[in-house]
Amino acid sequence: MRIGVLTGGGDCPGLNAVIRAVVRKGVSVYGHEFVGFRDGWRGPLEGDTMPLDIQAVRGILPRGGTILGSSRTNPIKIEGGVDRIKENLAATGVDALIAIGGEDTLGVARQLYERDVKVVGVPKTIDNDLSGTDYTFGFDTAVNIATEAIDRLHTTAESHHRALICEVMGRHAGWIALHAGMAGGANVILIPERPFDIDRVCEYVESRFRTRYSPILVVAEGAHPIEGQIALQAGELDAFGHVRLGGIGEVLAKEIEKRTGKEARTTVLGHIQRGGTPTAYDRVLATRFGLQAIDAVHEGDYGIMVALRGTDMVRVGLDVATAELKTVPVSRYAEAEVFFG
Ligand code: F6P
Repeated sequence: MRIGVLTGGGDCPGLNAVIRAVVRKGVSVYGHEFVGFRDGWRGPLEGDTMPLDIQAVRGILPRGGTILGSSRTNPIKIEGGVDRIKENLAATGVDALIAIGGEDTLGVARQLYERDVKVVGVPKTIDNDLSGTDYTFGFDTAVNIATEAIDRLHTTAESHHRALICEVMGRHAGWIALHAGMAGGANVILIPERPFDIDRVCEYVESRFRTRYSPILVVAEGAHPIEGQIALQAGELDAFGHVRLGGIGEVLAKEIEKRTGKEARTTVLGHIQRGGTPTAYDRVLATRFGLQAIDAVHEGDYGIMVALRGTDMVRVGLDVATAELKTVPVSRYAEAEVFFG
C-alpha cells in the first residue's frame, strides 16, 4: 500500500514521534510505502508532497514541531476542495491517509471519510479537548512548560509584592490552566468553563497579600468574566471560524490594580507552550498512537481515531471523536478551588 501522512492545525510536541512510529512500523513490519503531504490539508489539496521513508524519520523522535509542516487550511470551505483532494490522492497513488490533528483536522477527515476517502485519525492538541481520548499528546509538555513558568513567577512575585498573572493557551477548554495551576500552586485558576466573578478574584488576591504571600493567578486564554462585569473585545476568526484568543490576562491585571490598588502584571506564555522537545510521556503516547494508526490502516479499519482509554490503545469513530469538545467538569474545578485565596 501507499499511505499519505499529514499534520494539520496548531503544531504540537510529539507530532514527529507519531510520524516516525507510523513509518517505522509501516515499512519494517508491513512493507508499506509512505508519502508526506505538506502543511496539513493544503498538501493533498494542492498535491504538495515530500518523500517519507525510514531515512526521513531518523532522529526526529525528540524534535518539536512537525517535519511535514502544518496549516489551518480548511478544504471544506474551498469550492471543489474535497474533489481536488480525491483527484490528488489518486494522482499520487495514495490508497489511504493518516491525518494527525485536532478537532478541525479530524472534522475534515470525518467528512472525507463520508465521501469515501480511506482515512485514519490521530488526536493531537496541547489543549487536550478532544472527546473520545483520555489524553492527547502535547498536553503534558504544555503543562510542564507552564508549571515551570509558574514556579519562576512565584519567586519574583514574592520579591516585589506583586500579583502576577500567567495566561496560558487551551482555547475553549481549561485543561492546561487547571493542571498547570494545580501543579504550580496557583492562588486562583480561571477557566472558560466557569465565568469568573471579578469581585471574588480580587478578594482572593487581597487575602493572599494579607498573609504576606504574593498571589499567582493562572488564567486560560478563553476565560471570561460573568456577563456585564468587564467589557471585552472580540478577536478575528480563522478558516474554521474560531476566534483568535488572548489578552484576558492584561484585562485582568488592569482590573485588579484598579480595584485593589496592588500592582498586577501579566505574562502570556503563548507559543512557548507548543514549541520544543516533547516530554517522555508525550513521546511514548505519540509513539503508541502512531503504532495503533498504522495497524488500523493495515487492517482496513477506516473512519476511526486512535485513542487512549486508561492505559489502553483503542479506536473510536471519527464522528464520535469530533462530536463535542471535552471540557473541564465541575468536579475537577472544585478540587482546585480548595486551594484558592
Ligand atoms: O489549539 C492549539 C492552540 O495553541 C490553542 O491553545 C490556541 O488558542 C491556538 O492554538 C492558537 O493558534 P495559532 O497558533 O494559530 O495562533
